[in-house]
Amino acid sequence: RPRVLSGIQPTADSFHLGNYLGAVRQWVTLQETHDAFYCVVDLHAITVATEPAALRRRSRVAAAQLFAAGLDPERATVFVQSHVREHTELAWILICQTGMGEAARMTQFKDKSAKFGEQAASVGLFTYPILQAADILIYQANSVPVGADQKQHLELTRDLGQRFNHRFGDTFTIPEPYILKEVEKITDLQDPSAKMSKSSSSPAGILDVLEQPGPLRKKVMRAVTDTGSEVLFDEENKPGISNLLRIQSALTGTAIPDLVARYEGQGYGTFKKEVAEAVVETFTPIRERTEKLLADEVELDRLLAIGAERARVVARHTMAEVRDRVGFLPSL
Ligand code: TYM
Repeated sequence: RPRVLSGIQPTADSFHLGNYLGAVRQWVTLQETHDAFYCVVDLHAITVATEPAALRRRSRVAAAQLFAAGLDPERATVFVQSHVREHTELAWILICQTGMGEAARMTQFKDKSAKFGEQAASVGLFTYPILQAADILIYQANSVPVGADQKQHLELTRDLGQRFNHRFGDTFTIPEPYILKEVEKITDLQDPSAKMSKSSSSPAGILDVLEQPGPLRKKVMRAVTDTGSEVLFDEENKPGISNLLRIQSALTGTAIPDLVARYEGQGYGTFKKEVAEAVVETFTPIRERTEKLLADEVELDRLLAIGAERARVVARHTMAEVRDRVGFLPSL
C-alpha cells in the first residue's frame, strides 16, 4: 500500500471548515486505500507562544476531532508528533542541509512573523517548514493530503529529500502533494479574498466544526455576498457566492452547475439557508462524537499511545539509516 502522511496544528479549540474540507475529509477517504499516518503537530504549535494548559487541551480536542471525523484507530495511525522523538532529531539534520536563503523564502514565515515583527519571531517559526519536511520524510510518505497553503512547504520537503538522497545516498521517498482543486482554499466568509484561517480570520469569517448550530447558521446567513442577486459561480465578480457554492457542492456531493440551476431565480436567501443546513448536518455528528471522546481522556490517551507506538516503529527504522548515512557513530 502506498503511504500518506499529514498533520494538523492544535492551535485552536476547534478545526474549521477549511481544515475539514481541505484536509481532514481526504484523510478519512485515504485511510481506505493507503497506509495512513496523521499527526497532531504540537511541536509546530509551540513555534508561537502557547500556554501549556491550552496546548494540552487543544491537542486532545484535535485528536478527538480526527477520530470523530471518521479516522479509524484500527486502520489509520493517529498520533501526537511530540510522542515520536525522531521527528525533532531528523529536523535538526535537515536544518543543517537547508540554506538560510531557502528558508527565508517561505511565505508563511513572512506572513506569520509580520504579525509580531521578524525580530520578535522565534527561530522555531523560521525552521517550522523543515520540521514539517522531517514529519513527512521520516515516514517515507508517497503523498501528503493538504490545502493549497502548504504547497510551498511541500516543495521544500521534496528539495530537502532529494538533496539528502544526492549527498548521502538514496534514503527518502520523495512525496507528492495531494491537493483537491475544488476545496484547496476555502475562503473567509467575511473576506472572500482571504483563506479561512484560525490565526487571521475574525470569528464571523470562520465556521468551526465544534460550533453550535445557532451560530453556524447565523454566520452563513451573514456571509458577505456580492452585488446582484443571482447564484452564479464566478470567482472574479462573485467570490463570496462562489465560495459558498464550493462549500455546498463539497458537502452535498452535488456538482456546482446543478446547484446553480437549482437556485436559478431564487435569490441568495434560499441558497444560504441550504448551505447553512449542509454545514450543520455535517458538523453536528462530529461535534457530538468529539464530546463523547473527550469525556474519556484515559481512552483517548490510550488510542494515541497505540498510534505513537506504530509511528515510532517506522520513524526509528528511517532514523537508524539516516544516522549511519550522515556518519554518526553507532551508539552501542
Ligand atoms: P494547519 O494546521 O494550518 O492546517 C491543517 C490542514 O488544513 C488545511 N487548510 C485549508 N484547506 C483549505 N482551505 C482553507 N482555508 C484551509 N486552512 C487550512 C491546510 O492546508 C492543512 O492541510 N504546516 C501544517 C501542519 C503540518 C503538516 C505536516 C502538514 C505539520 N507537519 C506534515 C502536512 C504534512 C499546518 O500548519 O496545517
